[in-house]
Amino acid sequence: MNKEIVIATNNRGKQKEYLEMLNPIGYMVLTPRDLCVESNPEENGKNYRENSYIKALALSKLVHRPVIADDSGFEVEGLDGFPGLYSSRFADEYGGDYHKAGLALNEKLGDNPNRNAKFHCCICLLEKEDAKPLYFEGDFKGTLLPSWSGDHGFGYDPFFHSEELNLDMGLASDEIKNKVSHRGKALQKLLVYLAIK
Ligand code: IMP
Repeated sequence: MNKEIVIATNNRGKQKEYLEMLNPIGYMVLTPRDLCVESNPEENGKNYRENSYIKALALSKLVHRPVIADDSGFEVEGLDGFPGLYSSRFADEYGGDYHKAGLALNEKLGDNPNRNAKFHCCICLLEKEDAKPLYFEGDFKGTLLPSWSGDHGFGYDPFFHSEELNLDMGLASDEIKNKVSHRGKALQKLLVYLAIK
């Protein structure tokens, strides 16, 4: 394994996903913690691309190796895509309690019958600090559930139903989720790029 890549997250779930996908094609996946650096730039971009680039650039400046950073969010169609970029911050308004945040989204939606929702993920690959960033994106479409279902996954998963899988995501294993999720799809695209590079 001779190629190194650093992922801009200390989230163990994400690390596992990246590791499982990138190890088989010869990449050694490192985290900021492995390199004893900390990078928490302000995510003040106007969209997922800008935020993923902000995170990738900040880390690249510290580690001088190729980096990947992702940014994702949960969008409810009947709320014009809210919370989207603010998914994490919206949950923070409820002390990071996603049970409360999901119920609050339902309350905002009220009688609106449009319960369509999706997760979106953008992965930015930055091979050098001054390189052109490359973006790999994926969507995971479904519907917002009126109440919490299951305890698998994280964030808004227990309020999300996938028609494609005919399954509430709070009841899905990581393995099933990764095959069809927004991050899984974006990661597949990144993998194809890295494998043929
Ligand atoms: P991040 O940019 O990947 O950290 O995602 C931002 C926020 O979007 C998270 O804190 C969650 O609130 C939400 N989110 C992103 N991906 C998922 C997912 O796969 N399941 C549930 N919530 C997610």
